Amino acid sequence: MAGMVADRLLAWFEQHARDLPWRRNRTPYRVWLAEVMLQQTQVDTVIPYYERFLDRFPSVEALAEASLEDVLRIWEGLGYYARARHLHRAAREVVASMAGELPDCFEALMELPGVGTYTAGAIASMAFGEAVPAVDGNARRALCRLFGIRDDVTRSATKRRLRELAADMLPERPAGAFNEALIELGATVCTPRSPACHRCPLGDVCRAYAENEQETLPVRRPRRKTPHYDVAAAVTVREDGAVLLAQRNIDDMLGGMWEFPGGKCEDGETLAQCLVREMKEELGVTVEVGQRLTVVAHAYTHFRITLHGFWCRLTEGEPRCLDCAAVRWMLLDELDDVPMSVADRKIAGALRAGLNDSSGGAVSDFA
Ligand code: ADE
Repeated sequence: MAGMVADRLLAWFEQHARDLPWRRNRTPYRVWLAEVMLQQTQVDTVIPYYERFLDRFPSVEALAEASLEDVLRIWEGLGYYARARHLHRAAREVVASMAGELPDCFEALMELPGVGTYTAGAIASMAFGEAVPAVDGNARRALCRLFGIRDDVTRSATKRRLRELAADMLPERPAGAFNEALIELGATVCTPRSPACHRCPLGDVCRAYAENEQETLPVRRPRRKTPHYDVAAAVTVREDGAVLLAQRNIDDMLGGMWEFPGGKCEDGETLAQCLVREMKEELGVTVEVGQRLTVVAHAYTHFRITLHGFWCRLTEGEPRCLDCAAVRWMLLDELDDVPMSVADRKIAGALRAGLNDSSGGAVSDFA
């Protein structure tokens, strides 16, 4: 059965593979970048980012030479920014210690920052032809259905079992095409809802299809309701038009991104009280909080925020970095060159509109 599945998958892939940028001119660097970007992100979203990234950083050397800020700026909007930080760190390691050559086997790839079991398997098989599995969420869904697996697919024991099943079917050659074919099947045929079983090359051997269970597999524990937080951000404009920005601690979520300083509102605190506290803790300054400039809603993977941007005025102290990576006054045009989170970028847009509003209506009550 295993050999038949592999043969059919490979034949199907040869006919139906989408023409995607990382499938042309397959260098290790291009495969690596694609597989990192494709973690947790859909193909259609990745394509423009992938092309822009390669235009800007065409080689591992170019990436290693770049500043983290420039890398994050290109990554801005793609999410999961730790991927970009790890990629950048790994590029520096590859250039400094490996003469610019990516390791060519699974075990050595696993040593690189940001490279886990899936990514190491994908690079090793697709760029170097090593016969190791690479099983992402798409492939897991297809495998659960093919084998009628009812275990919770989010558990690591289930993931391990699926990886073993894929390894059992994996041909010596071409292992990379087999892995990519299984991922492609999951992405284009064996989709989460309404899978196109009538065009599946494995339809007649699929357990889920035989039992009409294709819509109920894979099984995953119900998601917990995502929590919501109110976050206050200070929009502080100096007389020369410069705006106060802080850079998030590098190892935090959104690490390295610039933001309007502030933070999460605690229980029993008003948004204004929250800002006064946060500005003291983060930058050692006292602020007076004015009117609200704008409100932005944003959803992250595990929580949602409502970000409230308030005009603020410094009343005491010079901003210094107490709990952030850096602090800087920036002119509006400079904001275009630094990485910001999507939500903060929206505040910057409202600020620009507010400062350009000749009626003065949206401008700070300190103006
Ligand atoms: N998702 C993860 N890797 C992929 C690949 N190589 N092609 C399409 N989608 C993918």
